[in-house]
Amino acid sequence: MNPSQERAWREHRAAYLVDVARGTMSTSVAPQDPVDWSVVFARSAPLIAEIGAGNGDSLVATAAAHPDIDIVGFEVFEPSIASTVGKLAARQLTNARVVLADGVQGLRHLVAPASLEAVHAFFPDPWHKSRHHKRRLVSPATCALVADRLRPGGLFRVATDWKDYALAMREVLDGSPLTNTCDGWAPRFEERPMTKYEARGLAAGRTVYDLCYRR
Ligand SMILES: C[S@@+](CC[C@H](N)C(=O)[O-])C[C@H]1O[C@@H](n2cnc3c(N)ncnc32)[C@H](O)[C@@H]1O
Repeated sequence: MNPSQERAWREHRAAYLVDVARGTMSTSVAPQDPVDWSVVFARSAPLIAEIGAGNGDSLVATAAAHPDIDIVGFEVFEPSIASTVGKLAARQLTNARVVLADGVQGLRHLVAPASLEAVHAFFPDPWHKSRHHKRRLVSPATCALVADRLRPGGLFRVATDWKDYALAMREVLDGSPLTNTCDGWAPRFEERPMTKYEARGLAAGRTVYDLCYRR
């Protein structure tokens, strides 16, 4: 961690980090009862989950734009969680939390069925080599899990700047229990701030593909 991440981690982690029972690895989640998020947030409100929240730019923007919604971000890289915590504290946001954990395991073990307003996964790791495609986040198993955790009408929003992954995402999502809200690609999700991943893709001449599917 850099000094500002270390400071954020030290001073603000208690307010924003949700501790969970672990499996065998440091970012795994042990099977357990789902978290009662209304206790965590001390209120009952619609809940969004973000998988791979990175440095928290989208999470913070969503939390700031929707004080009436709660959002939990899953991220496996501790310094990124520290950056997110620092940004949340700087804006004194109370409607966001982070979990240092694999987001798929987090959805499976910490989130009750039919409880989410939306799931966000922006610029998930592309895993370019074909022998690594099985590691991609947007898979049939993950889409089935997301569909189960969304409330009826809830939305799964994804974006990528890698065309082959975008096409694979669309194929997987079209075969999932979810329904495309658009006739093909979705318009850019206007609430999503421009992160370094999106900017890097655009600077390299790539197109950014958004998808939005509904349970
Ligand atoms: C390419 S970055 C995108 C970050 C952010 N969404 C953005 O748009 O700036 C992908 C992020 O997902 C995280 N990640 C990868 N696999 C994950 C998983 N299974 N659960 C949670 N986070 C994951 C990585 O550590 C990384 O921060």
